[in-house]
Amino acid sequence: AAEELAGLLRGRIRDVPDYPKPGILFKDITPLLADPEAFGALTEALAAFCKEAGATKVVGLEARGFILAAPVAVRAGIGFVPVRKAGKLPGATLSQTYDLEYGSAEIEIHAEDLTAEDRVVVIDDVLATGGTAEASLRLIRRSGARVAGLAVLMELEFLPGRDRVLPELAGAPYQAL
Ligand code: PRP
Repeated sequence: AAEELAGLLRGRIRDVPDYPKPGILFKDITPLLADPEAFGALTEALAAFCKEAGATKVVGLEARGFILAAPVAVRAGIGFVPVRKAGKLPGATLSQTYDLEYGSAEIEIHAEDLTAEDRVVVIDDVLATGGTAEASLRLIRRSGARVAGLAVLMELEFLPGRDRVLPELAGAPYQAL
């Protein structure tokens, strides 16, 4: 069943060469989102991951992670919490900077959206270098909540993203669909 799902999802992800820069092969998920069978199957699989992990909250990573995580939260009957790029959240935030190939990036979460009782699953579309996911897991840990898992639609296996996030997961489940 996992292979069948992977085939369905793979068939709805479009490779766009040289986007947004020459030499980059962009993975476009919009065909998947436009197909209710594929988007529905993805949502079901991610909701099942959350249930197995005993999640009480789903964190989605801006921007494409929001699209995937929000229906999962509704399906699993748990809350949705956004991790946003710095400067977008109006309340008291926790923030985390991380290194990019050139320069650095900063992400934030509303501190009050997570409590020490929460078990949190993080969802995003792509795990590439793992920088974004690793920083998000750190934010969750710093909030006092428990990291319950990380699930992504796709992992770029030629990059060491998995090795970067596994220590931060500390034994919690990881899945790339
Ligand atoms: C992309 C993707 C992941 C991240 C993965 O987001 O959606 O969040 O990069 O890369 P990493 O593993 O190397 O950190 P992007 O910053 O392009 O934002 P967007 O979803 O807002 O387009």
